[in-house]
Amino acid sequence: MSNVHVVSHPLVQHKLTLMRDKTVSTKGFRQLLNEIGMLLAYEVTRDLPIELIEVETPLAKTMQPTIAGKKLVFAPILRAGTGFLDGMLNLVPSARVAHVGLYRDPQTLEAVEYYFKAPTDVAERLVIVMDPMLATGNSAIAALDRLKRRGVRDMRFVCLLAAPEGVERLTNAHPDVEIWTAAIDEKLNDHGYIVPGLGDAGDRMFGTK
Ligand code: URA
Repeated sequence: MSNVHVVSHPLVQHKLTLMRDKTVSTKGFRQLLNEIGMLLAYEVTRDLPIELIEVETPLAKTMQPTIAGKKLVFAPILRAGTGFLDGMLNLVPSARVAHVGLYRDPQTLEAVEYYFKAPTDVAERLVIVMDPMLATGNSAIAALDRLKRRGVRDMRFVCLLAAPEGVERLTNAHPDVEIWTAAIDEKLNDHGYIVPGLGDAGDRMFGTK
C-alpha cells in the first residue's frame, strides 16, 4: 500500500501499546493521544517544502531554511479527532483549524454530518484531516468528500489505528490522499470496531459510555 505510511517510531509504538490497555485511565488515554498527535504531526509534515531566506545573526548575514508553500489547516473529525489537535498545534501553532462534525449511525455505520466550519481560504491550504480510528472508512471518506466540495485539493489523513478494510476503502475513494497511521490492525468486527484495537476512542478520551 504505497500511499500508507506506518509510523514505526518506538515512542509512537510504546505509547500506542499503553493506550490499548483497557485499564488506562481517561486522563492517561487523553494524554497519550495528545503526545502521539505531536509525534504524528512531526511525521506528516516531514516532506514539507522549504526555501532559503536571509537571516541576520548577531555575527553575519546567512541564508537559512524556512517552510515554504501552502499554509496548514488541521481538520479533526469530531469528536475523537480533537484528541490529536492540541498535540499537533503544539508543533504548528500557526495552523488554522477546520471542524468536521460526523457521527456514525450505529445501525448502518454510515457517517452523518452535523457540523462543518472551515477557514474561508481552506481551498488554498494543505489540509491535514485527523481521526484516531480508521475503521470502515465511512467518516474519513465523508470528511474528505466534504472538504473537496469546499475546493480543497491538497489533503493528508492521519489516524492512530487503521483496519485493513478502512485503508482499502479510503484509498479507493480518495487515491490522491496519503495516510499516516501508527498501526494497521487485524480486522473489523461485526460492529465496525477495530480488532484488537483499543475500543471506542471517543468514549475512552472523554470517559463516556
Ligand atoms: N471507532 C472507534 O472509536 N473504535 C473503533 O474500533 C472503530 C471506530
